[in-house]
Amino acid sequence: MAENTLNEQKKIILSGIQPTGTITLGNYLGAVKNWQSMQSQFDSIFFIADLHALTVRREPAEFRQTALNFFAQFLACGLDPNQAIMYFQSHVHQHTELQWILNCNTYVGEASRMTQFKDKSAKHADNINMGLMDYPVLMAADILLFQSDLVPVGIDQKQHLELARDIAIRFNNRYGDTFKVPDGYIPKTGAKICSLQDPTAKMSKSDTDQNATVSIIDDEATIVRRFKRAVTDSGSEICVREDKPGITNLINIYSAIEGKPVEAVEKEFAGQGYGTFKIAVGEAVAAKFKPIREEYMRYMADKAYIAEVAADGAQKAAGLAERTLKKVKKKVGLVSF
Ligand code: TYM
Repeated sequence: MAENTLNEQKKIILSGIQPTGTITLGNYLGAVKNWQSMQSQFDSIFFIADLHALTVRREPAEFRQTALNFFAQFLACGLDPNQAIMYFQSHVHQHTELQWILNCNTYVGEASRMTQFKDKSAKHADNINMGLMDYPVLMAADILLFQSDLVPVGIDQKQHLELARDIAIRFNNRYGDTFKVPDGYIPKTGAKICSLQDPTAKMSKSDTDQNATVSIIDDEATIVRRFKRAVTDSGSEICVREDKPGITNLINIYSAIEGKPVEAVEKEFAGQGYGTFKIAVGEAVAAKFKPIREEYMRYMADKAYIAEVAADGAQKAAGLAERTLKKVKKKVGLVSF
């Protein structure tokens, strides 16, 4: 996107990711892969949600490096600065400014009902900070700031997205039409990739069991090994079934990576053993991620380029965000000269 304006004809998509660990296969199939394929059709805004990640205690030097690595992973996945605006959330102050105003239009009851808030409070019982509960309001601000039409995310973000819609509708009713009410874009396959060690739980960047996840920058041997060790189910049939969460997860992964319908995958591997199938899935994922890993290395060797793209993205995003923020400030009755 060459200018500081969006093409009024195109719809706007926006999405973000928290910089912790590295981008996983789950993040890739649930979100980043779709951002990449949608960026030419839409006006696209993708950001590193570094402020969101502060809700959990981080070691500052490591956190800074992780966030930078994530930007290189964005580029390596084919997100293209000529087509999409890409930046660090903390570089665009309008996010938190709008968050405050939205905070004053969000009820404590609805924020405290969020499943992720409850889960994270249980997981970090010694650090149930204000940010943890306020997290979805910042996410609503991220989305509403850009008048986004569509938000491509995995299924775990659905509840947060619904809250963003509720806040937008409430604000519009109270102050007059201000925000576009966004829709989610949740992919048919890949919306919930599960842990390779516990296929009833989602694959998570912060999983402490290394064997449970695969990263987009893991090498081939590591990826194939993780799949060989993946937990499967009893029986030997390769099919999607409720009592076969392990095999179902592997079928979904293969289907999303290869772009083949689930039924075609079931047919392709009919009569073959779990062992053969696990290796085939591992090899398919490894082949997909090999060029991404290579591109990642290349971008990591060029920090100046990352800084340039991020600065340009932040400047463009701030220009767009300011339009909405100005409107919002006026609507709620703040003085302006
Ligand atoms: P985060 O960083 O947890 O995840 C980034 C994206 O990856 C998706 N995802 C998955 N998809 C499929 N299977 C999985 N196992 C899996 N794990 C994660 C997530 O659904 C998400 O799309 N709050 C957000 C970041 C955010 C955001 C936003 C997103 C901040 N502001 C505004 C959209 C719009 C988060 O923590 O995502």
